[in-house]
Amino acid sequence: MNDEYLTKLGIQQWVPRCQQAEQATAQPVDLTSLEARVAACQQCELHKSRTQTVFGVGNPNADIVFVGEAPGANEDRLGEPFVGRAGQLLTKMLAAIGFERQDVYICNVLKCRPPHNRDPSKAEVAQCTPYLEEQLQLMDAKLVVALGRVAAHYLLGVETPLSRLRGQRLQFGQSQRDLLVTYHPAYLLRNPKDKSKSFSDLELAKKILETA
Ligand code: URA
Repeated sequence: MNDEYLTKLGIQQWVPRCQQAEQATAQPVDLTSLEARVAACQQCELHKSRTQTVFGVGNPNADIVFVGEAPGANEDRLGEPFVGRAGQLLTKMLAAIGFERQDVYICNVLKCRPPHNRDPSKAEVAQCTPYLEEQLQLMDAKLVVALGRVAAHYLLGVETPLSRLRGQRLQFGQSQRDLLVTYHPAYLLRNPKDKSKSFSDLELAKKILETA
């Protein structure tokens, strides 16, 4: 029997108290409304210096999500993650394992650019990551790839050196979703000798997706 029919009959439906509270406070739960909330965010000082927020790009139904650190100057200008030199390298790395950018989803820990590309502060990470958490939950991808130290340390809640985290199938968070850690493309631009390690990490990502 549907709700409208019951209401017309004057029958009030019983809703548990805890659910009533949930109904009253629940935010809309889809990526588009989350993106709109992020665009309006003024929770930290970064909103004052940003051109725009940088939410994410790609296929929201992708099996694999790449999480970087924070937008840089190009991303802040264009509103899209990984569009500068590091982004071009990421696109090439994806192609090397047979993915186009539009096959995957790409986002960052921070949705606003830290001025002068400085590292995100702990407070900024703490304030911004509820958005990332919600984004990852809504997408429900099989595998998350952390690009670099900031994403890896946040998602795993550890401060272990990246060289010891990369190259293995890990799990994170309450849902114990699969996670792979690899080098940030900006690091690889400075240390090209480690590109082959990142390439083997991405090959492992592909294998994980095939078996997940
Ligand atoms: N570096 C990142 O971590 N993210 C971007 O979007 C661009 C550069």
